[in-house]
Amino acid sequence: MKVASYLTTPIYYVNDVPHIGHSYCTLATDTLARFARMQLGNNEVFFLTGTDENSQKTVDAAAKAGVSIEVYLKDMAARWQSTWDTIGISYNDFIRTTEARHVDTVHELFQKIYDKGDIYKGTYKGLYCTGCETFKKSSDLNEAGRCIDHPNQDIKHLDETNYFFRLSAYEKPLLEWYEKNPDWLQPRSKKNEIISFIKSGLEDVSVSRETAEFGISLPMDPAHKVYVWFDALINYYSGIRTPEREHFWESAFHIIGKDITRFHCVIWPAMLMAAGIPLPKGVFAHGFFTIDGTKMSKSLGNVISPVDLSVQYGNDALRAGLLSSFEFGSDGDFSAENFAEFYRTKLAGGVGNLFNRVTVLITKFCDGQVDLNNAGLDLKPEFEKFESLLEQKQLKGAYDFYFATVDAANQRLNETEVWKLAKIDADAASKIFTELFDYLVLLSEMAVVLLPESAPKMRAMIGLEGKVGAAQIMFDSGRTDK
Ligand code: MSP
Repeated sequence: MKVASYLTTPIYYVNDVPHIGHSYCTLATDTLARFARMQLGNNEVFFLTGTDENSQKTVDAAAKAGVSIEVYLKDMAARWQSTWDTIGISYNDFIRTTEARHVDTVHELFQKIYDKGDIYKGTYKGLYCTGCETFKKSSDLNEAGRCIDHPNQDIKHLDETNYFFRLSAYEKPLLEWYEKNPDWLQPRSKKNEIISFIKSGLEDVSVSRETAEFGISLPMDPAHKVYVWFDALINYYSGIRTPEREHFWESAFHIIGKDITRFHCVIWPAMLMAAGIPLPKGVFAHGFFTIDGTKMSKSLGNVISPVDLSVQYGNDALRAGLLSSFEFGSDGDFSAENFAEFYRTKLAGGVGNLFNRVTVLITKFCDGQVDLNNAGLDLKPEFEKFESLLEQKQLKGAYDFYFATVDAANQRLNETEVWKLAKIDADAASKIFTELFDYLVLLSEMAVVLLPESAPKMRAMIGLEGKVGAAQIMFDSGRTDK
């Protein structure tokens, strides 16, 4: 059997611009994709991201901007894609839900489920929040009768003919699936939440909108549009429908935020079961973070742009700073102050300083040539530890381990005072230089995944066959002490 890895991010709504919350999810997936490439090779990894465009939000935002929907979408999708390019995301494809390849796949799946009898026509009478693009019950609303997450938007009262997906029929198959595949949804706490939700009883869900102005028309009733979530989830499947990509499906793994777990872990697997398509290999739901203890929101004016952070500190700082601030899978907090401190101590003062000091000393005392005949250090177990942390998706753990390794190398350097030793015992110093060099090699290898833009600079400084190369500028861009 072919080994492969297919990783996906959620597709983002285009009515917003990318902020560091979205970037967190994309950077986490990027890290796992880079790790998978390291283990399986580039050709066996496929990383998909994209934009969720068939939404009422799009119609409203285009009207507000005073442009046509097409112009608005083209512009915004390009903006999302160029943000990912700017911050160094290694996606293999970018999917837009207005593309023909996606529309065709949605039609195909909708028809398949309809033909099976699991989509039927009925009437939906109830509430709808455009902010969440979700049908609501009155128990979901706050005291003022508004959506908890979108209190500034009016709740719509719908009374329309809709097509329904027979989700209720999948209660038992879903519970059996979770029973047989206990690690399918991680972390475990999220899985427990989903299981209790399923056990509390599943109702059929509306999967079309009669009054929607924009979206994918139903194959059997073109006056109706496919409900945006039913359409959006299918993107993961649309993205690999070519002969060279098809084999990736069985290794599909979705990285999502905890806010969209029910869609991905109840509705999506049920849709796939109904369509007779094998389920993906797994889902990981990460937590949300606040900024200085407060929810990130436009109205509070505390939204941070990933591009601003990247311009000031560089892409590696952005990814390391976000992914190491709290456990992947838990909620956390981000503060500009802690980020600046992290940059100063761990990156500039830690990694950058270590590479500079060691290569400068080797140049000064050994004419730039490390003696590779010395025993050196066996750092294989360290590399295995790094691999095992990433296999368990412990992203913060992997970064913590990286910085602990930098500290260990710095400690070796300081304890041995090799710059003094070199003047009195060249042989003893030579052995220490080889050990320090081994640390640099290990750090440069782990950097391929954790600090990918610095990794080639590290390799250039390490040079070839023990002959160190020219100094490189690393973690110097945002320094306040320059
Ligand atoms: N379009 C849907 C997803 C469809 S996937 C088939 C959507 N889009 S979104 O743009 O609103 O949000 C996408 C994701 O952004 C969230 O699930 C979450 O992963 C991420 N985040 C948005 N704000 C965040 C934080 N403050 N913290 C962490 N992640 C955040 O939902």
